[in-house]
Amino acid sequence: MGRLLRFSEMTFPLDPLATFGREGPLFLEIGFGDGRFLVTLHRRYPEANLLGVEAAAASVARALRRVVREGVGPVRLFKGRAGFALRNLVPPRSLQVVYVNFPDPWPKSRHAGRRLLQVPFFWLLSTRLADGGRLLLTTDHPDYFDFAVAEGQRSGLFAVTTPSPPPEVLTTKYAEKWRARGRRFFHAVFTKVAEAMKAFPPLPKEETMPHAILSGELPLLGPFTKEVHAFPGGHAVFLERTVREPEGYYYLVRVEEEALELVQEVVLEVRKSTHGLYAGLKRFGDPLVTPGVRRAVAALVEGLLAAGLRLEKRSY
Ligand SMILES: C[S@@+](CC[C@H](N)C(=O)[O-])C[C@H]1O[C@@H](n2cnc3c(N)ncnc32)[C@H](O)[C@@H]1O
Repeated sequence: MGRLLRFSEMTFPLDPLATFGREGPLFLEIGFGDGRFLVTLHRRYPEANLLGVEAAAASVARALRRVVREGVGPVRLFKGRAGFALRNLVPPRSLQVVYVNFPDPWPKSRHAGRRLLQVPFFWLLSTRLADGGRLLLTTDHPDYFDFAVAEGQRSGLFAVTTPSPPPEVLTTKYAEKWRARGRRFFHAVFTKVAEAMKAFPPLPKEETMPHAILSGELPLLGPFTKEVHAFPGGHAVFLERTVREPEGYYYLVRVEEEALELVQEVVLEVRKSTHGLYAGLKRFGDPLVTPGVRRAVAALVEGLLAAGLRLEKRSY
């Protein structure tokens, strides 16, 4: 398996042996930025299997180049949000240590809901940490620090201590940036002492691309306008439509599922197939079949039915 994790190659949750090709304690870094801390961790704990999760695509690309250049083998990077990765990728009770270095502080009170370290996060985390597993937080932001410590304590599942930070967490890009500006650092260790009652099962993983088979002549569709289809837990935005040669259409669709902490850009297609007209998800760009992706396919099919095509069969 390559260092960049792909939905099409993984199981939910990951099988650590298949993923890393070896046994080893599992460490997770959330928001790895340019990836330099993953290199530091590997040098310090060569026996550890390192999973990194980062939401920003440009940072993932930079970190991937770095870990390849530095020859870090037992590392796997996932582009996405921490909540999604913890729930779906990380097996129950498998993590020894989780690092959160300089998380986005969201200082405005109206944005506090976007902060990572909140009670529901600690509930989920408790189910993925091994007994006695720990989360290490380092930040330059006193309000965020107080907030995270209070949330960890409020979860009732973690013992929180505030020792001095280990030196390696003060070598990240943001640590260097804030040190240069004379900021203070705050550090907390959240040690699991109990586990949430809820199990937080991962999503079922489906291999079949959701689609419908339609009959009738594919009409020449009128001008395209951007469309938003809302559904419980998220929405799908039809951003663009292009003609597919020799016949059919491609649609670029962004599916945002707040409830899953997942945003995907997927391609839907309408094309002739042996059984009729195929309208559905294209296996391109490593899509994950989710309820939201199925809703996007349903919206596409409804539009085609309204344009006069007939439904023969559907699987979504
Ligand atoms: C301030 S930067 C710190 C980067 C790095 N840890 C460092 O110390 O240099 C915060 C990082 O967390 C990422 N991030 C924010 N929310 C996230 C989430 N929910 N899941 C994964 N990464 C996230 C951001 O994209 C960004 O790269």
